[in-house]
Amino acid sequence: MEDRLNELRAEALARVAAATDEAALRAVDKDYNGKEGAVTLLLASVPGLPPAERPVVGKGANVLKRDIQGAIAARKEALEQAAVEAERSGAGFDATLPGAPQSRGSLHPLTQVRREVEAIFTSMGYAVLDGPEVELDYYNFQALNIPADHPAREMQDTFYCDREGRLVMRTQTSPVQIRAMERLAPPFRVIAPGRVFRNEEQDATHEHTFHQVEGLVVGEDITVGHLSGVLKGFLRRFFLRELEVRLRPGYFPFVEPGFELDIRCPFCDDGCRVCKHTRWVEFCGCGMVHPRVLDAGGVDPEAWTGFAFGFGLDRLVMLRYGIDDIRHFMGGDLRFLEQF
Ligand code: DAH
Repeated sequence: MEDRLNELRAEALARVAAATDEAALRAVDKDYNGKEGAVTLLLASVPGLPPAERPVVGKGANVLKRDIQGAIAARKEALEQAAVEAERSGAGFDATLPGAPQSRGSLHPLTQVRREVEAIFTSMGYAVLDGPEVELDYYNFQALNIPADHPAREMQDTFYCDREGRLVMRTQTSPVQIRAMERLAPPFRVIAPGRVFRNEEQDATHEHTFHQVEGLVVGEDITVGHLSGVLKGFLRRFFLRELEVRLRPGYFPFVEPGFELDIRCPFCDDGCRVCKHTRWVEFCGCGMVHPRVLDAGGVDPEAWTGFAFGFGLDRLVMLRYGIDDIRHFMGGDLRFLEQF
């Protein structure tokens, strides 16, 4: 009987060593340890053996079974390792096969245009500032000359972030004006592009989340002439042509005097849908920084003057590409985004 065990062992281990794939290893396992396997049958025969042989054969068969399983596992691992190494060595690699197609992403149109705006202003000596999107009521309203009971708040209903109403989603980028004055010593010129939020009905020109670019210049003897010169210069470089502009009086609590700056409609000469047949499109709010606002920012209104402006980045992108609905920007529709 022991000879039989040794015979089976030699045979089985030789087959394991010769196996070159997993199927061959499974076959070895089946032939020896399966239901009708040679080792299994040997074990089944133990009760019929003379009592003296039973323990020897029983134990031997069990050990053999385990050894065969161990050899199979080791061989399997060696084969897998060899396969990985073969792949790494480049054997069988076909350089002429076509590659998997890669779809290339692109920057969101708002990002592209924001970067362009930043490049134009930095070339004019402006620094680009950031401000928090969750802002203190103080910066978003009070320091901008909009006290708690001011009617201007009605136009800019926002999302309040705490029970006390001290924290708001900023409704405009103008709070960065105050933060800039607190941090920088005049003279300085900055822009602050960013996301803003309002609680209002959505339609083709209104979104709860949109984008503005704020501008602030503080210096000695700054005038409305500087303000209109800078904005004209910006528009010329952005639209690559001279666009006529006009200033109309406009009310914003943080500027005095305040204006609305309109530009000639870039799409028509005699009226179209974009300009609602007026030939003018509103571009931004602007004005001379109110002395109270300078004061709130720690800038002496007797020594310094400044101008500020704020325009909608979404609107600028819409004008650049002739986009008719602001909701495309946040809609996440790839058919829209892939065009840029
Ligand atoms: N923050 C204003 C708004 O969201 C826009 C604005 C108007 C900004 C006049 C200014 C400004 O800096 O001077 O409606």
